[in-house]
Amino acid sequence: MSSTKPFSGADPASRNTEVSLNRRSLLSKLTAAGGAAALCCGQSFTAAAETSADAEPSGASLKAGDHFTRVGDGAGLSAIRLSDLPAGAAIMDVMPLDPATGKAREESRMNAVNLVRISNVPSGSPLEATQGVMAYSAICTHKGCKVNSWAPEQNRWRCFCHMSEFDVLANGEVVDGPATQPLPTIPIAIDAEGIITATAGFSSAPGAAD
Ligand code: FES
Repeated sequence: MSSTKPFSGADPASRNTEVSLNRRSLLSKLTAAGGAAALCCGQSFTAAAETSADAEPSGASLKAGDHFTRVGDGAGLSAIRLSDLPAGAAIMDVMPLDPATGKAREESRMNAVNLVRISNVPSGSPLEATQGVMAYSAICTHKGCKVNSWAPEQNRWRCFCHMSEFDVLANGEVVDGPATQPLPTIPIAIDAEGIITATAGFSSAPGAAD
């Protein structure tokens, strides 16, 4: 019996086509896309359409001071701001934006980043400084697919290739699936103009580690 729970929506302006899928339609879409077929657990997830497994050696070039931007959506390369990211939402598959050149660092898919803003930030948490915003590598540490799903109820990222799940509140630790290594994080700050800004590079090299 298929789940009747809808997939919750993330930022509707994301360049990804975020889709509402029940368990059956998810399976059919994954199969049609050539992705790994696997049944969802009946829980609510936000899904982005792309699932790519063309892993490559890490060539990440994200740097401290970079902003983040959606690319390929025809909307120009504007920096993503706190106001673009409501509590509980995610913006997936964005790229670092070099503020000096105004260009996205698109030279490697290893630069792909998922942004999230959790709800109910615990009092006294370091996350108060970013109002709940966090940044993670969008490249799964299992086989290098894009991590393209966000589960707000559980604060988890999910990779639909083989269903690895990563705990956003535990530095991206693996909580389910075949991955063994956590997702790299990017420390961020919110600048005076509300722009989400990297304060350092990735915590470890993005890419498949298994
Ligand atoms: S590539 Fe992500 S779970 Fe396998």
